[in-house]
Amino acid sequence: MTFEVTPLAGAIGAEVGGADLGALDDATFAEIRRLMAAHCVLAFRDQDITPGQLLEFAKRWGDVHLHPYLDGLPEHPEIIEIVKNPEDTHNFGDHWHTDQIFSPTPAMGTMLHAKEVPSAGGDTLFANMYACYDALSEGMKEMLAGLRTYNLYDKTADRSGRMRAKIPDKDTPAAPAIHPLVRTHPETGRPALYLTDRQTTRRFAEMSEAESAPLLDFLLGHATRPEFTCRLRWEVGTLALWDNRCVLHTALDDYPGHRRVMHRITIKGEATG
Ligand code: SIN
Repeated sequence: MTFEVTPLAGAIGAEVGGADLGALDDATFAEIRRLMAAHCVLAFRDQDITPGQLLEFAKRWGDVHLHPYLDGLPEHPEIIEIVKNPEDTHNFGDHWHTDQIFSPTPAMGTMLHAKEVPSAGGDTLFANMYACYDALSEGMKEMLAGLRTYNLYDKTADRSGRMRAKIPDKDTPAAPAIHPLVRTHPETGRPALYLTDRQTTRRFAEMSEAESAPLLDFLLGHATRPEFTCRLRWEVGTLALWDNRCVLHTALDDYPGHRRVMHRITIKGEATG
């Protein structure tokens, strides 16, 4: 099968036309995997697939993750429904992050299937962590080489009403996850910055929060400079997936009074160090 591949921006992301993700053969999936390694974020429009088909597509990438704090759909617990209702004052994921950095084996990939979208707003932004690392000076790269981040899940962070209601039922993990700040991608072999804003404590493993803040602030600002990013505008039926090992993302909270519903699956990843 030949796809029509249209970059979403210069540094990251591609829209892939001509794919039916509900009926993929192995050769077609291999081509999608190749595109994922090249573009880090892929978007497929008009995917009229069931939750069961979404799950089958997810399983092609690896084992599917069951979220430790959020309950999934009754018939498919692996699929989390991300809902923002008109009266909700916060959305889910409105800060630059990589999924499950609070886990020793964080998510390899995440996919979202748009079920309901506002007429405007609710876009998701993605940033390329290879490109931002490559753009650092050699001196900075040397300084970052040995640093590790300390990641303890922050249950108190703002979340949409429905998501907030789910989280307090679950226990906070007893231990933080420690990760290298510069992570080597296991498939491409390329170094990528691996960090997050909010979601977890913000510090390096061997430093206090106050000591860590100036460098983390610089790195987050650098990593999310516009030239390293792309912006995805959702339509009902858009399915996007991204590689959390080399991508940060943030969900824009710019649609007060409107509803947005996504089906979300995360794929298990490997240890980082
Ligand atoms: C997420 O952070 O996984 C959700 C992103 C979105 O809803 O756009």
